[in-house]
Amino acid sequence: MRLGVLTGGGDAPGLNAFLRFLARAAGGDHVLLGFEDSFLGLIEDRSLELTRAATRGLHRMGGTILGATNRGDPFALDGLDRSAEVAATAARHRLDALVVVGGDGTLRLAGKVSQRYGLRIIGVPKTIDGDVAETEATLGFATAVSVATEALDRLEATASSHHRMVALEVMGRSCGRLALHAALAAGADGALLPERPFSTASVLELVEQRRRGARFSVLVVAEGAHPAGETERRRRAHAGGAATPLGGMAEELAGLVERATGVESRAVVLGHVVRGAPPVADDRILAARLAAATLDLARAGSESAVLVLRAGAMRAVPLELVSGGPSIVEADEPVLMAARAVGISFCDEPPAITS
Ligand code: F6P
Repeated sequence: MRLGVLTGGGDAPGLNAFLRFLARAAGGDHVLLGFEDSFLGLIEDRSLELTRAATRGLHRMGGTILGATNRGDPFALDGLDRSAEVAATAARHRLDALVVVGGDGTLRLAGKVSQRYGLRIIGVPKTIDGDVAETEATLGFATAVSVATEALDRLEATASSHHRMVALEVMGRSCGRLALHAALAAGADGALLPERPFSTASVLELVEQRRRGARFSVLVVAEGAHPAGETERRRRAHAGGAATPLGGMAEELAGLVERATGVESRAVVLGHVVRGAPPVADDRILAARLAAATLDLARAGSESAVLVLRAGAMRAVPLELVSGGPSIVEADEPVLMAARAVGISFCDEPPAITS
């Protein structure tokens, strides 16, 4: 068999691990061609052979040796539809299937390519946002949570020493799952998520309460978090998609808290630090399982599909199921409910008026 593989969207820890495990799973029996810079590598016919030797040791490394981009839509590349060149390159290389490792945006594009040109696609979900629909796990999320948790642990030590409020801003423009999980793991005082517009009065109340007790507070702020009723910031979070830089909420909140309460406040933006980290063990194991399942699917010769994890088992489902946009944190999501139960505030209700 001849397989192509590309990594699209923002990079995520575990991409290199996936490539390493895929090369191992393919063994010497199959040719594995890695296309550079997502769909651009097919449009411009830039690839390298992913042999066992070429991928040695990659399971420990962040990033992707193939390169990635969240600006490579082949249907609208600098205003031109170049998707036919994707199909033509795949045909020229006699690919039996193209493995597309991506988030919901890249997987949607892969679905369009498959539909229009009949190219067989095997989708593999990755993203530090943990927001691909239909799956319990995406490559990179576990590492991102772990890095953000470690950052919060460190920030708590300094916040408590200086009796400050510290707001850590993490990625997540429309889905706050990374902020939620890190806040819970680190025992933060509050988590502001795009899905739960916050009450500014409630944030101030939380900081005031903490000032009277522990004398410091730590908040996690997803980059797409916004105050209730502020539709403009919400609109900006979605306009332009993942490629439009977002952020600034933590900085804004720190200023606001300091002015309103007098509590000295600092903002820290974690941003791309979580993306470039070496994958934690869970992401490496997920990468290996996805690689093994990719080869099984390729050998079975089945239709285009995306691999998802459901109730701990790997399954192949139609690409359309995951290409309808990112998943969001639901109000009854078990991790959110556990976080509330153990006292993490989402500041999503105005404070109760006490006389
Ligand atoms: O989708 C992954 C992601 O990291 C988002 O959380 C973030 O909003 C976006 O990509 C940032 O993209 P860029 O690498 O273009 O700054």
